[in-house]
Parts: sequence; structure tokens; C-alpha cells
Amino acid sequence: MRAYTPLTITDAVLEQMANTPDPRMKEVMEAAVRHLHAFAREVNLTPAEWIKGIEFMTKVGQACTPARQEFILLSDTLGLSALVNIMHDKTKLEEATSASLLGPFFRENTPIFASGAQIAKKTEGVEVVLFGRVTNAHGAPLPNAQVTVWQTAADGRYDIQNGIEEIDCRGIFRTDADGNYLIQTVRPLGYFIPLDGPVGQMVMSQKRHGMRPAHIHFLISAPNYRELVTALYLAGDAHLEDDVVFGASGDLVAEVKDGDPACPIKGLPSIHFDFNLARESEDDKRAGRVGADPAAVTAGNGQTTKPYGAPPAEIADAAGPKKSGIFSGLFRGR
Ligand SMILES: [Fe+2]
Repeated sequence: MRAYTPLTITDAVLEQMANTPDPRMKEVMEAAVRHLHAFAREVNLTPAEWIKGIEFMTKVGQACTPARQEFILLSDTLGLSALVNIMHDKTKLEEATSASLLGPFFRENTPIFASGAQIAKKTEGVEVVLFGRVTNAHGAPLPNAQVTVWQTAADGRYDIQNGIEEIDCRGIFRTDADGNYLIQTVRPLGYFIPLDGPVGQMVMSQKRHGMRPAHIHFLISAPNYRELVTALYLAGDAHLEDDVVFGASGDLVAEVKDGDPACPIKGLPSIHFDFNLARESEDDKRAGRVGADPAAVTAGNGQTTKPYGAPPAEIADAAGPKKSGIFSGLFRGR
């Protein structure tokens, strides 16, 4: 009978998994076990800490619904999503616009709009025009490319946080014959990631501010080109350098300009940004996205979906004076 030690236990597990038929699954699981064991040895994990970790992961799972993906949020706040995204971005066949996080608020159920339409049902914030071209890596226009956008409403919340039935501030557009896209929206606000769940508890216990800089998500695709998942971050936001999910990067910072003569819609502030898509490789077809619609990950756990993501009162109060409504005035990036 063999006696396991803190060191030999790892090899014993790897030995039992050695016949895993799928070579990639074998590689990933072996590395996961090696690193998990090394982590436990490094911190000399106690039984109480081990069960606390299990309780935490259980709560993360229980928080997931078709409208909420707490595990993606956990991955985002631990920088794992950003790491996978950065590694994936480096596999592009050619130089093109950088990728950014898909995040936990993407959803497949998105309305289709004609070019130039307004995606926000309520335009009580600052209306903004988004325009530019979608081209290949060499600047040739890509006509009829699909441009999906989503962002917070003017109150700093995503539609899906208010319930799965609500759809607002997201839309699917097509580029014209010259590769131009044209979208009207409202200026998004920086926001607290959902702090009312286990991931929020973790973030607050680490004394992190829990905020993302104001941004607009884009998912752009055209046949034979690598799908681009990215976001534009609004210049001047106080959290560009310390995004709680590590998504903001300098090359994706965009300025909201007044009176840009190039803007096709006059009289509104605008963001001009051209996106370049790399050609699609065979690997790209299999790579998938760093993220998913929460409903695609969790078909349903029996819980009704209800509004979520409001920061605790003490955090909200500390972030600034309220203007009107529970979220107004909390957010940066105006
Ligand atoms: Fe976002």
C-alpha cells in the first residue's frame, strides 16, 4: 500500500489521469492539477481555508442565472479573462485592431437596426454618434460587415441587470458599400461591476474600487475575417489605468469630440474609430470567444432573474454625491 506525501500525491493523480484519450484535455487537466497542488503547498492551505474556498465557489455558481454570469465576472476580476484574451489576440495572422473583453453583459438577443439608428430607448444622457470604417488589415473597406454594439444606458446599468426581458442600448448594424458604420447612442458611464454577489464581496474585501472605465463594446465580423471582440474606452475616464477587470488598453481609447466635420450626423458629439480585421485562420474558426451570453452558459437554475449589480450603500455613498435616481452621480467618465 503506497503512502502519499505532500509531494507524491501530485504524481499519483497524474498517473490516474494518464489514459485520458483527448491529448489536449490531458494536457490542460495535468497542468491544472500540478498548479492546484503547488498552490496548496505554497500557502500551506488549512482545512478551514479549503472549505471556505469551496463555499465561495459554490456561491459563485449559485449566483449564475440566464441573466448573470458570476464565473465570468470572477475570471474577469482575477485577470484570467484578460490573460486569455491577450494570449488569443497574439495569434492573429496579421496586425489588426486589438481585442478587448466581451464581459458578462453580452447577449445574443440583440435587435437589428438600420445604419444611423439610435440604440438607446431613453436618450436622457448625452447623445453620441459612433462612426468610422471597418477595413481589412491593409485598409481596404469591408462592406456588409456585421457590427454589434452594447453598452450601459445613461444610468450606468446594462439592460440585462434589470431583467432578462429588458433589451436596450444594444444593436446590430451593417457597414455600407465603403465599409462605413454609423450608430447613435448615449454616452456610457463608468460603472461598478456587480458588487452584490460573491465576486463583489471578494473585490470589496480586497479594498478594490470595483469600477470599470466608461466603454462601448463591439463585436465585428465579416466572412473570412477573424471575429473582432473589442471595446472603445472613453478618453479622460478616471479608471483607464486601474480597470477592475483589466480590459482597458491605450490603443482602444477614443475621444468624444464636439463638431467633428467628418461626422455624418451634425450637431452631436461623436466618436470616430476605424476597425481593422485580420484574415481568419483555421485555428481562429475553433478558438471561440473569451466570453458568452449568460443564457448560453446557464440555461436556467430555477431562479427567477431579478435586477442585480447595485453596489452596497456605503460604497455608493463614498463614490460621490447622488444627483437623481439610485445610480446617477455615482459614475465617472461623464
Ligand atoms: Fe462593459
